[in-house]
Amino acid sequence: MNSDPQTYSSVVSIRNLHKSFGSNHVLRGFHLDVAAGENVAVMGKSGSGKSVLIKCIIGLEPIDEGQLIVLGKDVPKLSVRELDELRADVGFQFQGSALYDSMTVRENLEFPLRRHLEKIKGYRAEDLVKEALENVGLLNAIDLLPSELSGGMKKRIALARTIIMRPKLILYDEPTSGLDPITAREISRLIVDIQKQYQAASVVITHDLACARITGNRLVILSDGKNYIEGKYEEVERMTDPVVHSFFT
Ligand SMILES: Nc1ncnc2c1ncn2[C@@H]1O[C@H](COP(=O)(O)OP(=O)(O)OP(=O)(O)O)[C@@H](O)[C@H]1O
Ligand SMILES: [Mg+2]
Repeated sequence: MNSDPQTYSSVVSIRNLHKSFGSNHVLRGFHLDVAAGENVAVMGKSGSGKSVLIKCIIGLEPIDEGQLIVLGKDVPKLSVRELDELRADVGFQFQGSALYDSMTVRENLEFPLRRHLEKIKGYRAEDLVKEALENVGLLNAIDLLPSELSGGMKKRIALARTIIMRPKLILYDEPTSGLDPITAREISRLIVDIQKQYQAASVVITHDLACARITGNRLVILSDGKNYIEGKYEEVERMTDPVVHSFFT
């Protein structure tokens, strides 16, 4: 794929991010730096603004204030076309696997390819679909419909769809929600394997402690719209602060 070999000191650089919906001031000065190849897990209570954060990062929600630089691009200043180009390099998996029910697995995976024809020049869609499915261990599901898949398989297919464009940055919103602990662990390990194989950086939004521990080089707790605490999982886990502690009990 004709992705340039440009390097960035930071894959994501967020400073003093503010985002409100009417009087609901959701993000209140959040900051985040993600280095190349790093996985950062973000935890926060329901409604704390985690999904909003992901939508801001890919420019689906405009921000009110602050700096938001992704893969070297100043997101709030991008035109619609430039945003679309950026999204070819950023894989995002929304909360819930959100596969199209009427499309087979193959068609679901071809969908993002059709939107970014420029990036996939020189590649056969068929090969990219198969490569992505092989990477999640589900090549044999290629002709199935979402209704024929288990919850864990759907998450894997959603993961395949997220990585099919070989993104430099991957954003996961609750990749393990609704799964049993064993399948959740498998998916978390798969996220790490994929990150290594694609040398992508990722932001993993999760409620699942095991997922945060397995996937995150660093853990950020989002509370009151700000970074409440951040550090290595083991460091954060040992903190006696009551807010932090509430995530680990
Ligand atoms: N498009 C929108 N319009 C108005 N309010 C919104 C919109 N999107 C999100 N919100 C509000 O922003 C806040 C944060 O929502 P968000 O979906 O980011 O929470 P979350 O941390 O992802 O929660 P959960 O863990 O339940 O997924 C909530 O109060 C929500 O009602
Ligand atoms: Mg959410």
